[in-house]
Amino acid sequence: MIQNLISTEGSSPEDVYFSDKGALLLGDCLEVMKRIEDNSVDLILTDPPYNLGKYSTGNIELSWRSDFNNDVAEWDQGEFDPASLASEFRRVLSPTGTIFAFTSYNLIGRWHEIYDPLFDTFQFVAWHKTNPPPKFRRAGFLNSIELIICLWNKGHKWNFSNQADMHNFIESPLCGGNERVKDPKHPTQKPVKVLKRLLEYCTSDGDVVLDAFSGVGSTAAACVQNDRKFIGIERDLDFHRAAVKRISKEIDKPKQEALNLVIRND
Ligand SMILES: C[S@@+](CC[C@H](N)C(=O)[O-])C[C@H]1O[C@@H](n2cnc3c(N)ncnc32)[C@H](O)[C@@H]1O
Repeated sequence: MIQNLISTEGSSPEDVYFSDKGALLLGDCLEVMKRIEDNSVDLILTDPPYNLGKYSTGNIELSWRSDFNNDVAEWDQGEFDPASLASEFRRVLSPTGTIFAFTSYNLIGRWHEIYDPLFDTFQFVAWHKTNPPPKFRRAGFLNSIELIICLWNKGHKWNFSNQADMHNFIESPLCGGNERVKDPKHPTQKPVKVLKRLLEYCTSDGDVVLDAFSGVGSTAAACVQNDRKFIGIERDLDFHRAAVKRISKEIDKPKQEALNLVIRND
């Protein structure tokens, strides 16, 4: 049971959501991770801040349409150092565990400097976005690639079945349509398709997956769909609440679909 892996001492009932599929916890991950048992996580799949605040050129004004939103989110205005996560990641990750962390070009060197000596190997996966935001002035490449760094402990195993599975490249559009959480919108909501692919590389049914920067719960949604257990931590109350609503619905989906089938057959 996921409850057995997390101490809830001192947290209020609104801060924690538990189901038999996993947990969503409100708070600063540096504090909340301390409540997770040693060696209890099979995969850390997470999407921390990118430190892009200082590179932002702000919104782009366009005469023929509303401003093109190029603002940096509030949580990406400050300084984030990947080193701050290293000791808790080492402690909670099982000896057969893996880490995937989304990051940006400006932080790759820092991740490598800190994490390469701590884990067995350091690699990366590239996510190619087939519909990246346009650059109207054609003043450089589109940001159509996102990097996901990958690290593992020595005892870890891959689920590769052939050479084609082993390409470190995933192709998928940005998430949109019904998948996109509307209230509130999260500027960097990750597509469940990409997260499910990452889960499939190295976890099995029932494995425990931690997302320490869970936003609107995309990793948790991927875990529900792939039968993995999730632990999500998010600091922003509105994103946390949106994640709880989304995941409760996701968990109820099979029951709702079965009910719809019964009603249609009546
Ligand atoms: C890049 S976004 C992750 C989005 C997520 N992958 C999704 O699909 O919704 C990073 C998230 O981390 C949260 N955050 C930033 N610092 C945090 C901290 N110290 N502890 C917990 N959450 C934090 C932000 O509020 C933001 O929602």
